This record gives sequence, structure tokens and C-alpha cells, in this order.
Amino acid sequence: MREPIRDTVEFQANQQLCQVAGDDVFLTVSEFVRERLRWTGTKTACEEGDCGSCTVLVARPAAQGMLYRPVNSCIRFVFQLDGCHLVTIEGLAADGNLTVAQQAMIDCHGSQCGFCTPGFVMAISAACRPAVDQHGTLPPVDWPVELSGNLCRCTGYLPILEAARHCETQEQLGDTWRNLQPGFLPRCEALRTSAFDIRGTHRGVSRRVVSPVTLEQSLRWRAELPEAEVIAGATDLGVRWTKRRQAAATWLDLGRVAALRSITESLPESAGGVEPGASVLEVGALATWADLLRQTETACPELAALLRRFGGPQIREVGTIGGNLVNASAIADALPFLLVLDATVDLASSRGERRVGIGQFLTANHQTVLRADELLVRVRVPLPDPGERFRLYKISRRRDLDIATITAAIRMGEESGKITRAAIAVGGAGPVAHRLERVESWLPGRPWTEATFCEAGDMAAQDVTPWSDLRGSADYRRQVVRGLVQRFFHESTAVPAGGA
Ligand SMILES: Cc1cc2nc3c(=O)[nH]c(=O)nc-3n(C[C@H](O)[C@H](O)[C@H](O)COP(=O)(O)OP(=O)(O)OC[C@H]3O[C@@H](n4cnc5c(N)ncnc54)[C@H](O)[C@@H]3O)c2cc1C
Ligand code: FES
Ligand code: FES
Repeated sequence: MREPIRDTVEFQANQQLCQVAGDDVFLTVSEFVRERLRWTGTKTACEEGDCGSCTVLVARPAAQGMLYRPVNSCIRFVFQLDGCHLVTIEGLAADGNLTVAQQAMIDCHGSQCGFCTPGFVMAISAACRPAVDQHGTLPPVDWPVELSGNLCRCTGYLPILEAARHCETQEQLGDTWRNLQPGFLPRCEALRTSAFDIRGTHRGVSRRVVSPVTLEQSLRWRAELPEAEVIAGATDLGVRWTKRRQAAATWLDLGRVAALRSITESLPESAGGVEPGASVLEVGALATWADLLRQTETACPELAALLRRFGGPQIREVGTIGGNLVNASAIADALPFLLVLDATVDLASSRGERRVGIGQFLTANHQTVLRADELLVRVRVPLPDPGERFRLYKISRRRDLDIATITAAIRMGEESGKITRAAIAVGGAGPVAHRLERVESWLPGRPWTEATFCEAGDMAAQDVTPWSDLRGSADYRRQVVRGLVQRFFHESTAVPAGGA
């Protein structure tokens, strides 16, 4: 028997319970709060997830309680709020009392024209821990990282950072905005297990969104609606809508399928077929970059360091590994490291599952072997063996929140001064991210010397076919590829095997 299917979404916005049906579920969250709720404190500037001025907090009940995450409301849709608590800047101050974050922005002169200020206050509020940790101290916050998704044109960042650091030392953060309406949590439980199917008209176009809660239901809808576009975190699709007004008539929203969000790590002894010492991450397609960052802090610090530069916190909290892979941009950050780690993807349909290597999955820029009735459900990532040398590179014009010019991943084994094995992958240096097979087969058996890596760098530069655009000319990209191979030698020679 099929589960009951709703035609509304429900959530709490600040202290107000909302039930939304029809056309309005297709609005962006920023449109909804500004135009329907008339809360205009949330500002929109870029409308492409780049500036953070539209930042709001969104929390969904989870095992650890309500975790309030910063989200760009300009590229998130109302139906994605189902079962969540949405907090906007209007929801922070209670009875006219500003929160510590708001007061600190005033005291530290962190606001000038004020356009970015609500976004910064929301990002600071998300990063401030609600209470001391088990050791009785407030854990430190890396503020430049936490605020890297917010831009300010006027004030400069020092007063804003000062305001943020001031909040970190306060134990009383003014948390009344976390209060949930009576009955909201039990209602969320019920919502979590019920799918919805909503139709409406948005900007003159008929729209439909179906939102399953189980994998089985997702595959059934995928088979019934092959024309539907899958939506996960919407960081790519949201921008496609706000900038180009492109959207499929039907969306299949996977955002509430909890089974697709888990990350598990199998320890070396149980990782059948993998070299001793290496563990394997099984990452659900819906795992966000923030989920993966938290998981890899200890499991693979080199990967965590790269992920800290993936978008900003607002993008990492909702953007998924599955979305990155299926979008298959030639410069997507995930692709080189997945290529050198020999990762595989599991593709499922109502006919069954198949496993495909990342190299076979990607066929061209924005093209993959995914079939119309399939979903990407899982990515299997064998982590590097602790004895290997492994480095990840993202070369971009700006350090934070920028699209890469070149991405690269290099993984090598060395014994007694000789290279035993090599894997090198690059992105942004051809129509699709790919391994440099000629260099990889030339390296084993050669001495671990600067001369070897200079020659390998020259070969790598010959084997790529980059393009020229505003991020760099083809010649520049070739030189970067050459330079990264040499840089790998210097960095890996200076540090012990296994990365920094
Ligand atoms: C401001 C900003 C900064 C960004 N920074 C970076 C960056 O630093 N590095 C980088 O690589 N990318 C970056 N991106 C791009 C984007 O965030 C990533 O590609 C992200 O991982 C996409 O995931 P998503 O869940 O948001 O995908 P969505 O937008 O929901 O979907 C993307 C595509 O994947 C398909 N899809 C999603 N999940 C599945 C599935 N399970 N099965 C089948 N199809 C599926 C969708 O149909 C769609 O075609 C940035 C984007 C923005 C807006
Ligand atoms: S308006 Fe710039 S990130 Fe939303
Ligand atoms: S205060 Fe004007 S943009 Fe930041």
C-alpha cells in the first residue's frame, strides 16, 4: 500500500507556524520571507549564492537535536523547508533585546551601509556554539572560514571579525530564537515519514514537485517521471533558476531521503579488496560537503583541508556530493580526488543497482553515463593508505568561495628512494576531469628526485588540453599543471608520507 501523500509543506518561520501549498512552494526562501511574510531584513544582492547577504538559519530535528545551519535563502526553495525551523534576522531579538551577535556588530562598528549586516549576523549566530562543551570551555571557531561565505563592500572585515570573536567569548548568547512552538517537534516526526506531491504555477509556468522519503519511493517516482529533474541541495539548480530562469516542469526532490545521507567508514580489516591500512568511506549521494568535512577531519585531513575551500559554509551545508558528480563540471572540486582514489559510484533504478568507476561515469563536461531512470545513490571512496604521499590542489583567483582554474590530485608510493606507483588527476585542463595515464605509467621505478618530477611535469603539461577563459589562458593552465607536479615533489619530500 502506498503512503499518504501531502499537497502542502509545513515549517516554523521564526515563531510562526506556516503551511504552504500551490504556487508559493516554488518561490525561493528569500522571495517568500520578503514578499509573503513581509520580513525584509533578509537582503538579496547577487542571487547566486556568492555574497551571503541573504543568509538565514535552517534547522531540522536530528539525533543531535536542532542544529542551526546557515543557508543562502536566494537559491533555496520553499518546499525544501518542510519540517524545518527557519530563522531570519527578524527572529533573533526577543522583546527588543538584541542578541550578543547583533550588539557586537554595533559595538565593533561592523556595519556601514548595512546591506551585508543581516547576513553576517546570521552567519555569526550559526557559528556561535549554544553552550560550553563537555570540558566546560567554548570550542574555538575559525572565523575567517566561518564567514568566508559573506561579502562586505564597505566596512572591511576587521571590525566584523572583531565582533564575531567577541561573541565567541560570551556564554550567554541570547538563544531565545531557538524556541520551537508547542507541537512542532512531534509534527516534524510525522512530516519526516510522509511524501508530498505539489503542483502550482510559477511565473506563468505549470510546475510540480514530488518529494519522497524513502529510496524505494524515490526510484518508483524516477521510473514514473523520467522527465523530472532531480533536485538535491539546489546549489547548482538554484542558480540556474535565479540567473537563467531554467527549471524543469517537474522536480524530484531527494532532500528528505535520510537513507541517502549517511556516511560510514569501514576500518581497514573489514575493507575487503583494499590495500592493508586503507579504510573506505561509503558516502550517501545526499551527504553534504559539510557532512563530509566533519567526517574527514580525522579520517583524511588533506581532503578536509580542500573541502574547507569548497564554496562557503552556506554552500557546504546544503550542496551534496551527488549533485557535484552528476553536474559533472570539468572544474568540480570533487572529481580529481575521487579519480585518484579509484572511487566508484552506485547507480540505482527500479531495475537494480550498478557500480561504475568515476573515470567511466564522467563522459564529457556536464555529461555522465547516468540513465534517465537512474539515481546516483552512493559514492565509495577508498581513502589513501597512511604510507602513501597524497596531495590535493585547488588553484583559483580568490582563495575562498571561488571556482577553480585548475584542480589536481596526486597520489604516489615510494620505497627506497624509488616511485612505486603514481596516480595523477586534473580538472579544468580538458573537457572532463581525467587521469594523466601516460605520466602515471612512466613514473613507477624512477628515482624520487627533482629531475624526475620536472620531466613528469613537462609530460603532464603536454598531455592536457585546457581552454582559455576569464580564469586563465590555456597556456597559464598548462603551466599550472606542470608546476603542481613539481610542487608535489617539494611538498611531499618535506613532510612525512601520508600528507600534512
Ligand atoms: C556560490 C557557489 C559556490 C560554489 N562553490 C563550489 C566549489 O567551490 N567547488 C565546486 O566543485 N562546486 C561549487 N559549487 C557548485 C555546487 O555547489 C556543487 O556542484 C554542489 O555539490 C552541487 O550539489 P547540489 O546538491 O546543490 O546539486 P543540485 O543543484 O541539487 O543538483 C545538481 C545536478 O545534479 C543532479 N542530481 C543531484 N543529485 C542527484 C542524484 N542523487 N542522482 C541523480 N542526479 C542528481 C541534479 O538533477 C542536477 O542536474 C558552488 C556553487 C555555488 C552557488
Ligand atoms: S543574495 Fe548573494 S548569496 Fe544570496
Ligand atoms: S556594510 Fe555595506 S556591504 Fe557591508
